[in-house]
Amino acid sequence: MKEKNQVREHWGGSLGFILAAAGSAIGLGNLWKFPYVTGQNGGGAFILVYLLAVLVIGFPVMVCEIAIGRNAQSDPITAFQKLCPKKTGSTHMTGVLLLLAACGLFCFGKFGMSGLFFLIALVIFWYGWAAVGILSVVTPFFILSFYGTVGGWTIAYFFKGLFQQLNFTDPDSAKQVFDTFVATPSHGIFFQLLFTLTTGSVIWFGIKNGIELASKFLMPVLLIFILILIMRSVTLPGANAGISYLLTPDFSQITPHVFLSALGQAFFSLSLGMGAIMTYGSYLDSEKNILSSSLFIIVADTFFALLAGLAIFPAVMAMGMEPSAGPGLVFQVMPATFNSIGDHLGWLWSSIFFFLIFIAALTSAISIAEGCVTCLIDHFKFRRKTAVFWTILLVSVSGIFCTLSVTNWDRLPFLQRGLVWAFGSTNASLFDLMDQFSSNYMLPLGGLGTSLFVGWQWGMRYALTELRKGGSDVTDVNFFALLAGLKDDPLSKGTHSLTLALILGILIRFISPICVILVFLYNIGWLSLK
Ligand code: TRP
Repeated sequence: MKEKNQVREHWGGSLGFILAAAGSAIGLGNLWKFPYVTGQNGGGAFILVYLLAVLVIGFPVMVCEIAIGRNAQSDPITAFQKLCPKKTGSTHMTGVLLLLAACGLFCFGKFGMSGLFFLIALVIFWYGWAAVGILSVVTPFFILSFYGTVGGWTIAYFFKGLFQQLNFTDPDSAKQVFDTFVATPSHGIFFQLLFTLTTGSVIWFGIKNGIELASKFLMPVLLIFILILIMRSVTLPGANAGISYLLTPDFSQITPHVFLSALGQAFFSLSLGMGAIMTYGSYLDSEKNILSSSLFIIVADTFFALLAGLAIFPAVMAMGMEPSAGPGLVFQVMPATFNSIGDHLGWLWSSIFFFLIFIAALTSAISIAEGCVTCLIDHFKFRRKTAVFWTILLVSVSGIFCTLSVTNWDRLPFLQRGLVWAFGSTNASLFDLMDQFSSNYMLPLGGLGTSLFVGWQWGMRYALTELRKGGSDVTDVNFFALLAGLKDDPLSKGTHSLTLALILGILIRFISPICVILVFLYNIGWLSLK
């Protein structure tokens, strides 16, 4: 157990925090998901809506997470308990509603859902608002399991590239190679464990000597590698088609569906909704500026998603391949594209590409695991090394099931039958279920809980007091004066002006909860939009 009164570790400096948080945000969401979701949703049109979602919802929720974490200086569970020690009427009411829903579901024979609702109701009765913090212990097991599987594939593909085993030029043979690789359990599990252990070995050394150091080294490497790839990609003859695909919005493509996918993608990509950024915020001291850090993180994340698009689409289009190829875009179309370039360096481009994705995935996985580790340390009083050991061990076990389910879902008949019994029949493997369940349900709910908590329970006043620390003098000047570069102009100051503080308050109390509820209803199929 931990010694009492240990001084809480802090980031060495603003840069360390910003790079670590940007490392958390920039991950498979940017390099693997964003390109194919963009490809499937109409290119530039999707990007435009995505930018809106990031600004209007992503930014306020990120600011809330960091403010809660830094104010409480503790893990997400303890943070919610510190800021709102009592259980409130609203939490009791939510608990009762969930219990009623559980009874209803039970009567309709939906035992799995009923059990889940019952469990959530109990957690809410027991923990009150801190139930939102519980997500940071539970969600990592869902996200890290499939994240580790894909992270493992990137390591394997990096080596395959180096040893010239990716020398196909058409997507069909690429698919064959990918399918054979994915169907071999020993390979999948080996690389997944390698990925998960690498993640564990960084957090083993703590915030300053582990995460901050790794981020300061890895993030610049990431930027350099992606710039190299972009240079290769945009100088190919015919690359213009890809660039204009990315940058020309076709407004007829903007449907409600595009809007909702953009919002879900924004949550995942910015690492919001499970207390990962809150955890990073809890290691921040009060001299640092939360608003400017958040702005930097979301700009860096969005910029990277666009850079990934610039590295991928021009090359794909120049080689006459299909940009809307779905999740296989990165592992199948990309190596085939690189080999078609004809400069005999396909192996090099592929290796750089997969190494790049590996680094991005690693810095994100670190933040996902750290959420859980910090809870074990602060709330359950583990020592860091013990906490890391158990987190990595348990994630590895659930990850192995996840990888096995991709090799051949029929290998796990017990799990399959159990899930069918509990949740009804589904074709999706454990891998898909983990991905869908966490991104479609857990993250939006976590984000909703966070913004409702700050807007209606803790209170915007206290959140703003936290934001004003560390020199956030931008909160209270006229917003347009700020945009116009006139924030220090005495004539632009006024008490009744539209300040950033007011805008943030409205976004946090109304806009983001409403949007998240819409996404959630859409995800559970109660809201259908064509
Ligand atoms: N944002 C990361 C990505 O884009 C994934 C991630 C890291 C994440 N930490 C998270 C997602 C916390 C949700 C919650 O790949």
